[in-house]
Amino acid sequence: MTSDHAATGTMQAFVCRRYGGPDVVELADVPKPVPRDNEVLVRIRATTVTSGDWRVRTLCVPTGLGLVARLGLGFARPRQPILGTELAGTIESVGKDVTRFRVGDEVFGFPGGTMGCHAQYRAMPENGGLARKPANLSYEEAASLPFGASTSLHFLRKAGIGPGDKVLVVGASGGVGTAMVQLAKHRGAEVTGVTSTNNLALVSSLGADRVIDYTKDDFTTRRETYDVVVDTVGRTPFARCKPVLRDKGRLLAVAAGVPEMLATLWAPLTGSRRVIAGPAEERVSDLAEIAALAETGALKPVIDRRYGFVQMAEAHAYVETGRKRGSVVVLVEPPR
Ligand SMILES: NC(=O)c1ccc[n+]([C@@H]2O[C@H](COP(=O)([O-])OP(=O)(O)OC[C@H]3O[C@@H](n4cnc5c(N)ncnc54)[C@H](OP(=O)(O)O)[C@@H]3O)[C@@H](O)[C@H]2O)c1
Repeated sequence: MTSDHAATGTMQAFVCRRYGGPDVVELADVPKPVPRDNEVLVRIRATTVTSGDWRVRTLCVPTGLGLVARLGLGFARPRQPILGTELAGTIESVGKDVTRFRVGDEVFGFPGGTMGCHAQYRAMPENGGLARKPANLSYEEAASLPFGASTSLHFLRKAGIGPGDKVLVVGASGGVGTAMVQLAKHRGAEVTGVTSTNNLALVSSLGADRVIDYTKDDFTTRRETYDVVVDTVGRTPFARCKPVLRDKGRLLAVAAGVPEMLATLWAPLTGSRRVIAGPAEERVSDLAEIAALAETGALKPVIDRRYGFVQMAEAHAYVETGRKRGSVVVLVEPPR
């Protein structure tokens, strides 16, 4: 940001004015947010491009959810043109009623579905998805955690995963999978990760007890059974998964389309196994839990690539390959 920006009350942000490929995100001068009385203004140091940003930018959503997505996100173009679900930075200013934060505090945050983090500044309610950045994490590490970890916490809670449960994570090397493996282990589960040859070592390093290389082996045809199967890829329908689910087993369909959402209703009518699907609840309290887990080392950031702010479209293009390992971080230009 130049001194002109400061004088005119603008900032730089990437805006997405239509659905499409990575190049639809364009750098623009937009109004710098002014925090309300209960809000803080965060100067963003690091943000990420997630699978969530890819879905919103492309409107490429799981089976049967196209119309719902347009209604929710914007019919012809994203209603929120600034994407980006997670951030880390410093508090630049505070509204008059703010008591939890002070200017200069180092924070990380998860506006989640309300997005707006691909920018130099983001105003956030002090009681929204914002917490102090763990001291042992850099800005980029802190920004990389909330999306995958909060999704994982939601599904772990829903499934009630605890000590001794046998859990299989499909897509164990992705943003959600890398957090899920670590958090399921932290809860005392016995974890198997499913990934490709290149990522076997990564998934083992996150604490998985076993890894299955999906390029060589199909977990649905092995004799092994599980209490919980977490599918972060969206290619394991309930019918395929059922033989490897134990009595009262649960399929956590993280990337579910309409068929798996319907299965949440009919599965209980046909047996003891369950399907858990749908959008993850974004709980403000999760951020404090994520910070605490990161402080103790129970949850470690996994950063695949780092991009400069002006390389935002390149970051989107890489995420769109579907091959990223953990998180893709974007370092936000310091205002000048
Ligand atoms: N329900 C919710 O609220 C919610 C919240 C967050 C995310 N999601 C959804 O969850 C899904 C995963 O998100 P994410 O952020 O983890 O995505 P991601 O980081 O983009 O996932 C990329 C990873 O997927 C792995 N992968 C691709 N195909 C695979 C296969 N057939 N088997 C095993 N692994 C495979 C890749 O590993 P390889 O290169 O080794 O194949 C790569 O490491 C997305 O569809 C996202 O929309 C849902």
